[in-house]
Amino acid sequence: MFETINPAPEDSILGLTAAFQQDPNPNKVNLGVGVYKDSGGQTPVLATVKEAEQRLLSSEETKSYLPIDGLAAYASLSQQIVFGCDHPILTDRRATTVQTPGGTGALRVAADFVRRISPQASVWLSDPTWPNHPNVFGAAALQVQSYPYFEPASNGVAFDSMVAALENIPSGDVLLLHGCCHNPTGADLSSQQWQTIAAACARRGILPLLDFAYQGFGDGLEEDAAGVRIVADHCQEFLVATSYSKNFGLYNERVGALTLVAANSEAAEAANSHLKICVRTNYSNPPAHGGRIVAEILGDPGLRQRWETELADMRNRINDMRHLFVETLDEQGAGRDFSFIAGQRGMFSYSGLTPEQVQALRERHSVYIVGSGRINVAGMTGDNMDYLCEAIADVLK
Ligand code: LMR
Repeated sequence: MFETINPAPEDSILGLTAAFQQDPNPNKVNLGVGVYKDSGGQTPVLATVKEAEQRLLSSEETKSYLPIDGLAAYASLSQQIVFGCDHPILTDRRATTVQTPGGTGALRVAADFVRRISPQASVWLSDPTWPNHPNVFGAAALQVQSYPYFEPASNGVAFDSMVAALENIPSGDVLLLHGCCHNPTGADLSSQQWQTIAAACARRGILPLLDFAYQGFGDGLEEDAAGVRIVADHCQEFLVATSYSKNFGLYNERVGALTLVAANSEAAEAANSHLKICVRTNYSNPPAHGGRIVAEILGDPGLRQRWETELADMRNRINDMRHLFVETLDEQGAGRDFSFIAGQRGMFSYSGLTPEQVQALRERHSVYIVGSGRINVAGMTGDNMDYLCEAIADVLK
């Protein structure tokens, strides 16, 4: 059976890391995968994470299974960080949360859940989107469609086209929205635009699914939740996929959550029973370590305060790199106005480089970025900036 298998293509993001690791060029730069690096080029373990881990190490008494839907404290803290502590959705118990292996795990549980309760539903993705989105929903046997999102001429959101497309999405379909820090473009909806989209979803019976992987990497924890909370003002039912990979730097611990909001607590409870079946038939129950770290930090006011400072440091460094990138491209004679990059949000810059230029960057300079032209700004440092911008100026010639 296996002899006839042809190799599948490499993953367009994680496959780059594998290629990068084999590149012998000492000046190589990996700006592919969305992983934060500090000014020394390291992906650090946050000090608050270390402290929480030390506490857990001394207090942990068992490695027995977690419940199918994970730690109760983690679920409730995850809801609080998304909606704010006193949100009516929480007091009315309209939300139910399952702890998942990363944000991708949350998306897959969401996909399996939608397929289970509404198999005919299509999932609508922004054009462009994270390249793994169509794979995750396709793997759950859901139909995947796309709506216009980005306008290269303005390097901003193609809002009119997006709104027009929404009018043609059938009721009962799922609209995937990036909660903040749109991946790959860094172009986010304004509050006004969120109002329009959320109202259209409510009016037309479209189910919003918010991929919320970068809370705190845009303008701040609260600021970045504005879109989700506007959706909460308009829509009785929606889903939120949270990731703690980036904002806690817990990439390899696989820590995420899927939160489902229903019209009332009974519906939320019934939905939870189906979410648990989706989990049980996939990975049975979530890993504990990462979830415990997050719960320890979010549940302790002192640790939480210090974590918020660490998060702000990461966010500020990325924004500093955005400005330095724009300046250095100019100094290196890139010959284009890249100032829009300073206004993008999150880890990524959607550079406008063509697939040929991306390939030339890799072949001539060992600079690795995603084929769409997406560059991980969070991987730039003062040390690699000149080399990077010289390389970009070269392929633009
Ligand atoms: C990315 O977009 O680079 C990250 O979300 C990592 C991943 O899993 O692709």
